[in-house]
Amino acid sequence: MSDTVVKTTKEEELRQFSKKSSAVTLRNITKLFPNPEGSGETVAVNHINLDIADGELVTLLGPSGCGKTTTLRMISGFEYPSEGQIFIGDRDVANVPPNKRGISMVFQSYALFPHMSVWENIAYGLRVQRLSKNEIIARTGKAVELMQLNGMERRFPNQLSGGQQQRVALARAVVIEPQVLLFDEPLSNLDAKLREHMRDELRALQKRLGITSLYVTHDQVEAMAISDRVVIMKSGDLMQVGSPKEIYEYPSCKFVANFIGKANFISGIYEGMEGKTALARVGAQVIKIANPGKVQLRAGDKCCLAFRPESVKLSKTEAGIPGLIKRTTFLGTHLEYEMEAAGAPLLVEIYNPQLFTGYSAGEQVNAVLDTECVRVLPED
Ligand SMILES: Nc1ncnc2c1ncn2[C@@H]1O[C@H](COP(=O)(O)OP(=O)(O)OP(=O)(O)O)[C@@H](O)[C@H]1O
Ligand SMILES: [Mg+2]
Repeated sequence: MSDTVVKTTKEEELRQFSKKSSAVTLRNITKLFPNPEGSGETVAVNHINLDIADGELVTLLGPSGCGKTTTLRMISGFEYPSEGQIFIGDRDVANVPPNKRGISMVFQSYALFPHMSVWENIAYGLRVQRLSKNEIIARTGKAVELMQLNGMERRFPNQLSGGQQQRVALARAVVIEPQVLLFDEPLSNLDAKLREHMRDELRALQKRLGITSLYVTHDQVEAMAISDRVVIMKSGDLMQVGSPKEIYEYPSCKFVANFIGKANFISGIYEGMEGKTALARVGAQVIKIANPGKVQLRAGDKCCLAFRPESVKLSKTEAGIPGLIKRTTFLGTHLEYEMEAAGAPLLVEIYNPQLFTGYSAGEQVNAVLDTECVRVLPED
């Protein structure tokens, strides 16, 4: 799936694949599973509300077992919500079977039919719809071209590379002109480099086609790279919904800050606002935080100052939080310092290390926070 595929296919032909795209709305969706071990129930998804706009790509990101696949399965109709409503466009799909929902799903395992050729795999969904022979040929041919599978139509899945199999899976998903595309960790089986390539191609394709997409991944970098918005889930709850930049820069809690990117946390006491600046006491120092985010604390509450490893400088002369270097790792693009400061571990990344003298383990240095980049979060 190289960039040229998308570029050489005519705009009108691309639009064919997305002419039915529509919004998805989840209203108060809950899913309870009876525990297979016996008594009780698991709350797989807990009263979630989510609006995915027409043409938008939203990613569900969260730890294993947080309810991502269950959410996709309810939208696709393979699970029924215990409570709540799902709309595709303005249609409540409660009583619509999976094959009538206008949804295509792409899986990690590709789920190709091993005994069918590439062409047959792609054409399958159209045959099920009993379209005319000519239409099947025309649409399958366009999907083959779109995914740059020309010349491979007669091969069987086991005669393709992982990346090619994934392209067949994508071709099969778009050929039926779905209203919504659902992806469940579609790139996890590919090696790191191919995953990155496919991720960028997939995003380019989704944007060009404009098909509403809900995408599940474990990989936070993948989530940030491809999404219009990211949803962070934890134990069936939606913790935060926002653009990748919003979530990275303004995480609402420690869990989210830790889940997207790396984060440092320093405990303190929130002392209130001075205009738009938050004041927090850390040990004997009062730190002024110019851009604290939405602070939902009262003066005197315990708080946590959250900031990214790239928002800290190290200095022996400038004032800061005194720290001890525990370990230094050279990572090419940056140097990583594992430190201890204010009684907590602190991670510092210094980019472009060629221009930096560096410190060694055992040295005492001050961690100088870029206070514009510090957020004040509850100490949960
Ligand atoms: N059929 C089922 N019966 C009982 N419990 C289930 C069933 N399906 C899922 N669960 C439970 O529901 C919760 C959510 O599962 P789900 O598959 O949605 O997680 P996930 O976020 O997709 O995880 P992963 O990242 O590991 O794929 C888990 O605790 C899981 O054990
Ligand atoms: Mg899953």
